Amino acid sequence: MNNHTMEDLVSLCKRRGFIFQSNEIYGGLQGLYDYGPLGVELKNNLKSAWWKSMIYDREDVEGIDTSILTNPMVLKYSGHEETFSDPLIDCRDCNARWRADHISDNKCPGCGSSDLTDPRPFNLMFKTSVGPVEDGNSFAYLRPETAQNIFTNFKNVLDSTPHPLPFGIAQMGKAFRNEITPRNFIFRVREFEQMELEFFVKPGEDEEWHKKWIDIRIQWWQDQGIKRENLELYHVPSNELSHYSKATVDIMYKYPHGIEELEGIANRTDFDLGSHTKGQKDLNLTSNVMENTRSNAKLAIQDLETKEWVVPYVIEPSAGVDRGFLALLNDAYSVEELENGKERTVLALKPHISPIKVAVIPLKRNDKDIVAKSIELKNRLQRSLTGRVLLENTGNIGKSYRKHDEIGTPACITVDFQTLEDKTITVRDRDSMDQKRVNLEEVNAFLSENYSI
Ligand code: GLY
Repeated sequence: MNNHTMEDLVSLCKRRGFIFQSNEIYGGLQGLYDYGPLGVELKNNLKSAWWKSMIYDREDVEGIDTSILTNPMVLKYSGHEETFSDPLIDCRDCNARWRADHISDNKCPGCGSSDLTDPRPFNLMFKTSVGPVEDGNSFAYLRPETAQNIFTNFKNVLDSTPHPLPFGIAQMGKAFRNEITPRNFIFRVREFEQMELEFFVKPGEDEEWHKKWIDIRIQWWQDQGIKRENLELYHVPSNELSHYSKATVDIMYKYPHGIEELEGIANRTDFDLGSHTKGQKDLNLTSNVMENTRSNAKLAIQDLETKEWVVPYVIEPSAGVDRGFLALLNDAYSVEELENGKERTVLALKPHISPIKVAVIPLKRNDKDIVAKSIELKNRLQRSLTGRVLLENTGNIGKSYRKHDEIGTPACITVDFQTLEDKTITVRDRDSMDQKRVNLEEVNAFLSENYSI
């Protein structure tokens, strides 16, 4: 049965410790969520898989980790101050604020009043004051995308870690947007994480690289466990493109609430590097850059043959970590009917994504020898496996299996009386529910062969 709802996922997340409402004991704060003990593991696994595929598995990408607080100049010359806003309408009766495109018949969707203000631009960036004096002049923005400090570090990275074109700089981290209407659980939130690559290419080679990155990214989401039939491509029409984009293709996912963007892959041209570069007039820029930057940098690369300075074009695969988390959860979730008429909930995550890799379960919680053997095995596995191994000493095997099916643990190992006699344990497979007796000495090889962990 796979006709579950968002509520089913929200309930699982709360019950098992994946995701909690942020600041819940004080009534929460809209558009913010906290990742619990299992959520943080799954999220870190997703991010590690991205980092590995972007940086370790390639020769042409470097990673960085930059500040969240951002000099307003960066976001002025990136074009965000001018364009990163939504037109909003206030209701003078109930004081609710609405996006202009959500108002119909000139009536407040909350109270029905027609006493509405004209649309006013509302900037989506969060501001905070920096330093001890709050005089309005010493403010910084919380970054609305991780991309900008990749651009501002272009020269630092290239000077310290030279690469010819094409090459990329990748970053994962928090970004902030003061969304008017956060909604759909962790899909649209005000504080979220991005995984972004800015891939710098020779102008003229951008369209070919754009296509390549769309293929790479579609395949990558499938490698994480998303079914191809749940993914679609959306070619963003020109009137919906971001101010920096020549072309954007979104990878859309069939979420429980509808088909929405999981990752955007944009051709940002030479807009960003050009906008942050001094002496723009001396360069052959093709995009309509922000002019008269106050930056001192020349964010360009010298062609070793022609000696000409080139401002590269940028292809940007930009994925949402939280959106990816929700897609993985949704794709893996199902409720199965068992032969005995009962049901079980299973999260069929790929082992590298699962929050717990292996659960070690002593058959009897009060048997000293069985528990000691289980602890010994747990510690041994934890030393050799990447990811968390859990000792599950509840004394109720059936309940432990149900829990680990529901949180996506690929394998449960049970230590029983026979283990003490012949040094074998039982490995129970999450998906087939089959159980196999395996020699203790061969457990690592068995896990590696069957689960690649
Ligand atoms: N860097 C693209 C975005 O944040 O939408």
